[in-house]
Amino acid sequence: MQDLTDRKEWQRLATHHRDIASSHMREWFDTDHTRSSCFSIQAGEILLDYSRNRITQETLQNLIGLATAIDLKKHIEALFTGQPVNTSENRPALHTALRDPSASLALNHGQDIPGMIAAARKQQAAFVQRIHSGEWKGVTGKPIQHIVNLGIGGSHLGPLTCIQALKDFAITHLQCHFISCVDSTHFNEVLQQIDPETSLFIVSSKSFTTLETLTNAQAMMASMKQTFGEQAIQHHFVAVTAAPDKAQAFGLPKENIFPLWEWVGGRYSIWSAVGLSVMLMIGVKHFDAFLQGAYEMDQHFRHADFSHNMPVIMALLGIWYTNFFGANAHVIAPYSQRLRHLIAYLQQAEMESNGKHVHHTPIKEDYMTGSVIFGEAGCNAQHTYHQLLHQGKHVIPVDFILIGQSQNKQDDILLASALSQAQALMRGKTYDEAYHAFLAAQCSTDEAARLARHSVIPGNRPSNILLLNRITPHNLGALIALYEHKIFVQGVIWGVNSFDQWGVELGKQLLPHILKNLDSQQASSMMDANMSHIINHIKSTRNEI
Ligand code: F6P
Repeated sequence: MQDLTDRKEWQRLATHHRDIASSHMREWFDTDHTRSSCFSIQAGEILLDYSRNRITQETLQNLIGLATAIDLKKHIEALFTGQPVNTSENRPALHTALRDPSASLALNHGQDIPGMIAAARKQQAAFVQRIHSGEWKGVTGKPIQHIVNLGIGGSHLGPLTCIQALKDFAITHLQCHFISCVDSTHFNEVLQQIDPETSLFIVSSKSFTTLETLTNAQAMMASMKQTFGEQAIQHHFVAVTAAPDKAQAFGLPKENIFPLWEWVGGRYSIWSAVGLSVMLMIGVKHFDAFLQGAYEMDQHFRHADFSHNMPVIMALLGIWYTNFFGANAHVIAPYSQRLRHLIAYLQQAEMESNGKHVHHTPIKEDYMTGSVIFGEAGCNAQHTYHQLLHQGKHVIPVDFILIGQSQNKQDDILLASALSQAQALMRGKTYDEAYHAFLAAQCSTDEAARLARHSVIPGNRPSNILLLNRITPHNLGALIALYEHKIFVQGVIWGVNSFDQWGVELGKQLLPHILKNLDSQQASSMMDANMSHIINHIKSTRNEI
């Protein structure tokens, strides 16, 4: 296989980059009033306006040329048809099957995948019905009022993001809480907010080996058993896992276990029973709409021509900036409090998927992969890091995620703020503009010249506008699927496996030994001297308390 950077399509992009790197977007906007409509894509209820990018039609053609040369179409089909796209673990990544109502997937290694999905969905729906109707009761006979999701990473961020985003679609008075990290303060805070007699704990862990989740689950189970006896477990704990044997060995009754499968990646699992807390909050019908939105985005991704394919275009723009402009970060800017957890969700989705340097095949590693994802909801970002976006030396593309429907004046201010930021990033402010503005504000010529220097804003900073009319289960499903596919395309181009996460393993392996040393009364042993130094220091400060 040819190295990516040796491909003629890559070289063509490098030459093209040299040709247009000094062009300013403001000139393109001033001379072409159709730019916004030319560089827009509508997919379902989502509009992508990507006109504020440092691209011309030729850039697009070159980027699409690269995607075509690496046979992206074939890779997309491999994803949808259950080929082992997770090459290091030799598994398919079938999150798309979880939202495919036509259940057209062929039997995979003898497994009736659509049948398994349908059975699991039925089990979830029946459970939700029992909780909503009050038929399922706590150990003292009271109906459930609190849901506590115990999970981390993909087993936490999906439910957290969706429940916050879809608050307006909640159909119950259930209250949902989350415990993810091991942190006794957070654990105790949640304990204070719930009533154990009316609480249901969902232990969500694909592997059922995750230390944080198991530690929290164990502590919660111990506390419940101590108060209500052994039978509390059956009434108050359910599990979502791909390792039912481990969950049972942990003490969870078999009938309280909801399945997940190896062929669903943890950070792609919100569509499965990992979304149980979401289904409990918004109900089965809305959850179906959430799946339907994702399904429609899947169809768009699978069938739309690359030039009108939203995930493909977003992915290619990311490649353009990362590999040709040297950008190494990307901002997610949802101008909506409801979408605030989407930032962390996409942080895991993108960084755990593509934060890799190991390629499918041994190739030259002479290009960057992955992006640092960060962000903040709404105007808060403008008052924290936007200064650097406007005048710093980094090129950091931004995805502005906007909700068109406005309830009142405040929402219009929010929308206008986002649009102003996108415009300011694109246009910037020249020295002359700044100078004349200061003169108009009655500054002396000397003062105007001095201040103008500081207020020059280079502009030419890229951003996308993603516009949703409303946040609905359907649109949220489509939005999340859009990013999943964007990530997949980038992984394909970079030649990394977006579906493993070996990088997080080493820290997990080191932990037990460090924990043992931290817990022991003696001075730490068998550690390297520098680690012993900090551990002994921690212990000495503890002794002082
Ligand atoms: O961060 C590593 C990871 O394996 C993620 O991929 C996953 O979402 C998270 O830990 C939780 O894993 P599990 O669902 O197996 O507890």
